[in-house]
Amino acid sequence: MSEQDWPDLESVREEAGLHLHWQGRRSYKSLVPAPRVLERHDELSFQPDHGDHLVIEGDNLQVMVSLRSQYSESFDVVYIDPPYNRGGNDFRYSDARFQDPDADGSDAVYVSNVDGGRHTKWLNYMAPRLVAMKSLMAENGVIFVSINDIELGRLLMLMDEIFDEKNRIGVITWRGSADNNPSRIQIEHEYIVCYAKNLAHVPRVWSTPADEMRDVLLERYEELVASGFEGAELTKEWASLVRANGRDSLGRLARYTHLDEHGPYQVAYRVHNPKKGGYRYGVTKKGVVDSPTARGTYRMPANGYRFPPQTMQRYIDEGLVVFPKRIDQIVQMKDYLKDFRGTLRSVIDLDARSGSYRLKQLFGEGFDGFRYAKPVELIEMLVGAAGSKDALVLDAFAGTGTTGDSVLQLNHRDGGRRRFVLIEEGTAEDPYARTLVAPRLRAAIEIDGFDSGFSFLTAGAQLDREAILSLEKDKIKAVICQTDRSGTRAGIRRIDGRKWVIGANQRGEALALVWRGVTSSQVNAEVINEALLEAKDLGLKTPIRIYGTTCNISETRSFVFCQIPDEILAALQIEDFEPDEVASTLEEVAVP
Ligand SMILES: C[S@@+](CC[C@H](N)C(=O)[O-])C[C@H]1O[C@@H](n2cnc3c(N)ncnc32)[C@H](O)[C@@H]1O
Repeated sequence: MSEQDWPDLESVREEAGLHLHWQGRRSYKSLVPAPRVLERHDELSFQPDHGDHLVIEGDNLQVMVSLRSQYSESFDVVYIDPPYNRGGNDFRYSDARFQDPDADGSDAVYVSNVDGGRHTKWLNYMAPRLVAMKSLMAENGVIFVSINDIELGRLLMLMDEIFDEKNRIGVITWRGSADNNPSRIQIEHEYIVCYAKNLAHVPRVWSTPADEMRDVLLERYEELVASGFEGAELTKEWASLVRANGRDSLGRLARYTHLDEHGPYQVAYRVHNPKKGGYRYGVTKKGVVDSPTARGTYRMPANGYRFPPQTMQRYIDEGLVVFPKRIDQIVQMKDYLKDFRGTLRSVIDLDARSGSYRLKQLFGEGFDGFRYAKPVELIEMLVGAAGSKDALVLDAFAGTGTTGDSVLQLNHRDGGRRRFVLIEEGTAEDPYARTLVAPRLRAAIEIDGFDSGFSFLTAGAQLDREAILSLEKDKIKAVICQTDRSGTRAGIRRIDGRKWVIGANQRGEALALVWRGVTSSQVNAEVINEALLEAKDLGLKTPIRIYGTTCNISETRSFVFCQIPDEILAALQIEDFEPDEVASTLEEVAVP
C-alpha cells in the first residue's frame, strides 16, 4: 500500500463507531448565522405588560442565535413539531440558506417525496436547528420532537448524535386519528421523541399537574367529610364540586364521581385479559363459580379474566367489583382517586381533531387555514410533566401557536408562571406568526379571560460592530433590551417615552441609553443625574446600567457604564468570532 492509499487519521477517527452519515454531516455545527436585531411591534403585541411571553417572527435558526445572549442554557422544555418531510406542501428547503445561514432563503422550494436528496435536505435543515436548541436548553432541560414514520429512524440517530444516546428519555406513540385511506397498514399514530440535555439533571419521576389537581380534590373531599356530610348528601355535594370545576379544568379527573367509604372513585374496565388465555370462571353477585356460563353469572370477557379466581373473590369481598345492571354485561372495577397517577405514558390516545376544533372555537366554525395543529391537551401533557410551574418553554416551529395556548391553559389551571417563546416564519408563503400565532393567542386570552399577554418581535437586520454603530435610537434600544446581560432568562421589560431610561430588568434595576450617534453619545455627570432621577420617578432600583460610547466619570455603586458596541458584541458572543477559522472547517456541500 503506498502512503497515499492510507486514510488520514482524522477521517479514521471520524468514521469510527456507529453513526448516521449524510452529505453535510461534517459542516452543520459550524453553520451559524449572524444574530439579528429583534424588533418589537406594538400593533401585533397584545397586553405585553400582562405577560412576558414572546412571539418571534423569522427563520428559527437566525432567531435562536439572536436569543443566545439572554437565553443560553435557559429553556426547561422545548417542544417542536417540524415538517415531517411528507412531500407536497410540507417541507420547504433552501439550499442557499443551508450553505450560508444568513441567506434570505428566497430559493426555498417544497421538497417532493420523489426527490432523491429529500432525506439529506431534511437532515441538513434539522441538524443546525437542533444544535441551536440544545445550546438554549437549561442543564435540566428536556426536548420533545413530534415526527411520523418517514423520518423517525433518521431523527433518532440525529438526536443520538447531538444529544447523546444516554440522554434519550423515550419515544411516545400518539394515537390520534383514524386513517380511512385503504392501504397496507392504516396509520393512526405518530411519535414524540424525547431527550434530556443532561439526563442526570432530570428528576427520576415526573409528577404532572393532574397529580396536583388530584391532591387538591382529595383535600376538598376530606373537608366535606369533616364538615359532617355523609351518605346521599355527601355524594350530592361531591358531584356538584366536580361539576363546578368542570371537565375543562379536571380532564380525566372529572370521571371520579362515585363515592364509597374509601373515597371518590370511577368505574373502570379492568377485568379483561389483554391477550387470549385469560382465566375462565364465572362471576356472580355472591362470588366466583367454576363455570363461566352457570346461572346468574355475568358475561365473561372474550379473552377471559386477567386475574385468578381467588383474587377476583377477594376483590368481590372487599367491595371493589361493580356489578352492572344487566347480566349480559361484564363486571367492572372501582378505581380510586387516591390511586390516580398522571404519569406521561408511552402511548397517548387523544383525538387529533381536537387541534382543529380549538382553532374553530377561537376563529369561528368556518376556519380552515391550517391542517396540522396539535391538540392543546397533548402539549399540556408534555409541558406539564417535564417542566415546573415556572418553566421557560420554547417552540421554534410554532405553526398556529398551540404550545402558547397550552402554557396559558396550564398556568390558569395550576397558578403556574410558565413563560413561552414561540418562533414562526414570516415569509410571504408562511406568514403564520402574524396571521395565526398572534391572533390565536390573543383570542385564547380574550375568550378564556386570562390575565396574560405577549410581545411580538420580528428578526430584522444582522448585527455586527458596524451595523450596531449605524442603528437608529429605537433599534439600538431594541438591541440592548434583547442582549443586556442582566436580562438573562427573563429578558428586559421595555420602557417607552422617557429621555434616558429605556427598560428594567427582573430585579427592577433601570437601564438607560445615550444615543446621539457614534461621536456624541458620552455618558457624563448630567446624564447620570437625570437618568437616576428618572429611574427613581419610575420606582426603579440602582445600579442603573447606562449605555453610551464613552464615559468621563468613574463607576459608582449607583451606575454601571456599558460601552456601545463592545458590551453588545460581547453579549451576542460575536467578539471572538474568527471567520477564517470557521471557514476552514466547512465542507463543500452540494445537495442533489
Ligand atoms: C407542523 S407546523 C407546526 C404546527 C404546530 N405544532 C401547531 O400545533 O400549530 C410547522 C411549522 O413550522 C414552521 N417553520 C418551518 N420552518 C421554519 C423555520 N425555518 N423557521 C420558523 N418556522 C418554520 C412552518 O411555517 C409551520 O408553520
